[in-house]
Amino acid sequence: MKKLYITTAIDYANGKPHIGHAYEKILSDTVARMFRMQGHSVQFMTGLDEHGQKVSQSAEKAGLPEQLHCDSIANDFKDLCEKLGIAYDRYIRTTEPEHKRVVRDCLQKLYDAGEIYKADYTGLYSKTAERFVLEKDKIDGKWPSDFGEVVEISETNYFFKMSKHQQWLIDHIESHPKFIFPEFRTKQVLEFLKEPINDLCISRPKSRLAWGIELPFDGDYVTYVWFDALVNYITGANYFGDDFSDYWPADYHVIGKDIVVPAHAIYWPIMLHALGIEPPKTLLTHGWWLVSGEKMSKSSGNIVDPLDLAEKFGADAFRYYLVREMTIGQDCDISTDRFMARYTSDLANDLGNLVSRLLNMGHRYCNGEIKRVGEVGESEKNIKKLWQSETPKIVDLHNEFSIHLALEKLFSCIKAINGYIEERSPWKLSKSGSASDEQLISTTIATAAECLRIGAILLTPAMPTVGRKILAALGYTGEVNWTTSLQFGDSLVGSKLGDAIILFPKLDE
Ligand code: MSP
Repeated sequence: MKKLYITTAIDYANGKPHIGHAYEKILSDTVARMFRMQGHSVQFMTGLDEHGQKVSQSAEKAGLPEQLHCDSIANDFKDLCEKLGIAYDRYIRTTEPEHKRVVRDCLQKLYDAGEIYKADYTGLYSKTAERFVLEKDKIDGKWPSDFGEVVEISETNYFFKMSKHQQWLIDHIESHPKFIFPEFRTKQVLEFLKEPINDLCISRPKSRLAWGIELPFDGDYVTYVWFDALVNYITGANYFGDDFSDYWPADYHVIGKDIVVPAHAIYWPIMLHALGIEPPKTLLTHGWWLVSGEKMSKSSGNIVDPLDLAEKFGADAFRYYLVREMTIGQDCDISTDRFMARYTSDLANDLGNLVSRLLNMGHRYCNGEIKRVGEVGESEKNIKKLWQSETPKIVDLHNEFSIHLALEKLFSCIKAINGYIEERSPWKLSKSGSASDEQLISTTIATAAECLRIGAILLTPAMPTVGRKILAALGYTGEVNWTTSLQFGDSLVGSKLGDAIILFPKLDE
């Protein structure tokens, strides 16, 4: 059976993880979880990009052999995943023997098919972007800052005949409107493709850079890092296995906007096409986290360490902030004030208070048990109607990748549960001691708990730990999915409530 295959970009093994790396994993994990909730068998892969000049230079700086340096960085990145609740199915590293075998097989196939040729080339080379660049890449007469130092190099190298597939790529993009999400990026890619593209230099002489995968047809060269890195997606799909078609084509490559053109929207589909493999279905491209409108960089010293925030406020609060705040595709400023506002208002006040007051009332008025709903009034009808009508919309918004809007809607429904409890005010009803008021109290608690049960299940992809904690506190032992568990019903009747919990502690300044 075809799995839903989701990948992230693989991170360069040249430094500590920062908030951009964390966000991409959290977003992909949220997407993977929401698909699992809907019954898909998901394969979610993330990993590390370990070859090339950048990595080699950072190993040298750290005074370590490249492999040891990569091993230590892989530990940091895996630790990040663990702390952020990233439930990947496969962690790929490009120094794995299996991946090297796949890269060499692809290269040999392309070479045998006449798609690769050897030529002398003199050109301008960006050390930071690790590729040959052209005068036309200059912006306002200057090299973009991500190019770092640009130097002239004369070398004999191997080239992949990319240009001959340009028209195929244009046709493919035009006939597959879902190839790039959000759609506005498609226009940028087609704009780029209006100019003729060059063939791609896919080798580096070992005399200049030895840290890479040796070309199968010339032992004096290693493979260009992007040609090696992109192939990770098919290695992870078990390229040599009989079950390759269970994974491929990938459903979503989740990547940042900086690596759409040329790597993922130009090189990658053309490499696959030349190999006779289908391109991925969708590039899900997100924007950048900025600090006061500026790019994070080691030189500006403004890099945000994701583990600081997650350790202080809890991984789920951090996950919530990132996916609630960013519209996929747009840039967003990381701000402690915004984080604190979301933490205090959405999480501690709306959700956290609801959970603790509901549990407290359940213990105080109903012996810690959810009773059957009795006669219902307008308030019950309204809150039930709200959840019934908003739940499918929240699911749809997730599926459209408007996760920030899905969460906005979800939290306004959570707020409405608080409003409903205020309307009924069990603490006032309890004063009369009448049987009908007592019944109304248990109806209120059961109705609010049922809304919260649905809310917790909807929250689970973005906040897996909090979602599960709430369900456990409600004594819910049923299925947790978005196919059969979101109906408003009586699955909580008879369940025993857990002790009151504080999900989001108030923080000292
Ligand atoms: N190694 C390449 C990707 C190869 S994929 C076959 C690479 N690595 S990276 O470490 O520089 O970036 C990894 C991912 O993090 C990219 O998708 C990149 O866009 C993303 N981010 C890096 N900084 C970011 C922000 N400040 N904000 C959001 N994401 C950003 O590129």
